[in-house]
Amino acid sequence: MDRIRIKGGNQLNGEIVISGAKNAALPLMIASLLTSEKLVLDNVPALADVKQLQKILANHGVDIKINANSDDMGGQQISFHASQISDTCAPYELVSAMRASFWVIGPLLARMHEAKVSLPGGCAIGTRPVDFFLDGLKALGASIKIEDGYVIAKAPKGGLRGNRVCFPKVSVGATHTVMMAAVLANGTTIIENAAREPEVSNVANCLVAMGAKISGIDTHTLIIEGVEKLHGANFEVLPDRIEAGTFAMAVAMTGGDVLLKKGRVQDLQAAADVLIDAGVDIKQERNGFRVKANGAGLRPINVETDVFPGFPTDLQAQYMALMTRAAGEAHIKETIFENRFMHVAELARFGADIKIDGQNAIVNGVPQLRGAQVMATDLRASVSLVIAGLVADGETFVSRIYHLDRGFERLEEKLGRCGADIARISD
Ligand code: UD1
Repeated sequence: MDRIRIKGGNQLNGEIVISGAKNAALPLMIASLLTSEKLVLDNVPALADVKQLQKILANHGVDIKINANSDDMGGQQISFHASQISDTCAPYELVSAMRASFWVIGPLLARMHEAKVSLPGGCAIGTRPVDFFLDGLKALGASIKIEDGYVIAKAPKGGLRGNRVCFPKVSVGATHTVMMAAVLANGTTIIENAAREPEVSNVANCLVAMGAKISGIDTHTLIIEGVEKLHGANFEVLPDRIEAGTFAMAVAMTGGDVLLKKGRVQDLQAAADVLIDAGVDIKQERNGFRVKANGAGLRPINVETDVFPGFPTDLQAQYMALMTRAAGEAHIKETIFENRFMHVAELARFGADIKIDGQNAIVNGVPQLRGAQVMATDLRASVSLVIAGLVADGETFVSRIYHLDRGFERLEEKLGRCGADIARISD
């Protein structure tokens, strides 16, 4: 298994191209199941999760072609052609590796009126149930049974029927899934308390480009008028705000001056505001945003994760790494997932001072971190260890980096080009 070796102490200077967003690319790929015509996606990141979903879609009969790859950091262009769905079952072996693959249940049910999908796996950051998905699909008339770890869903005769769906709590995945199911339902669906993360809007806009009728995009209420068929489209994956936020925190940590090309501050305003309060300089420019920091004396700023436009849970671990070096005490509250502090034990190996009290982490900044042998526990947690390693005194080795490869494209290359001493090593 590969590991990452980092020698801490270098500032970051230069440019990093932000890749397409994993969390938009995955549901956009899944949307290809909704039409017999070709969906061509641009700016698809080359990630393990994208490859895994390609396998899952191929198993349903989707013809996938990579038209251009991302050697120039420009992102892949991939076409998805589901002229026929050959299999409506998504088996355990394929779905268990990645929670988002469960979302195929929406389009399969809408187009084929049936689906058998294994209950999902994914990052171990909480129980992550699927009750909102199932209740939403039931509201559209689906019958749902759970048998041997599989959800077996069937649409009523004539297909799904539009209805009002009100989620008890904002859920990105349940919104994607019910929205994709509703675009081909008979009649109108109103999704209340819908997620309005930029990735949800990206997918909604793609569905509109494919002929869907959706209003209320970018709000918590989506109104979807079902249509008989969708057609093909050419659509671009939006830049990854979590990747951009992660690099912004890396620069805040090491100090330096980096232009995050294609990055959009408006997609991560809450996190940018926190960094600015902490003493980091962030400015949107024409082709990205620039992050400048002197690498010392960060002010501790308290943070509570929230749904968009709040501070994203997917940046919580990275921010915690940053606060381990702040001049004082910062409180970080995780409100989205109940078990998303696994990085705390690993950050402690660097000499960080962090106490957990329920949903709260209390981080007391220390003057210096020490290089350590650490283990990645989940996707976002793993990159927080890299951020800590970039300033730690001495060498850091991060193992189990397959978590990183799921969601960060060429991380070591992007950081290395900006001056970090970082390498992937095979044992
Ligand atoms: C997505 C993102 C993930 C991000 C998360 C929150 C993708 C591929 N993943 O995950 O990176 O951290 O949004 O922004 O886009 N819940 C239920 N029942 C359900 C569904 C969700 O109780 O049926 C709960 C979850 O346990 C969690 C909360 O709702 O506490 C939010 O989860 P959700 O927004 O669904 O996260 P994901 O879509 O899995």
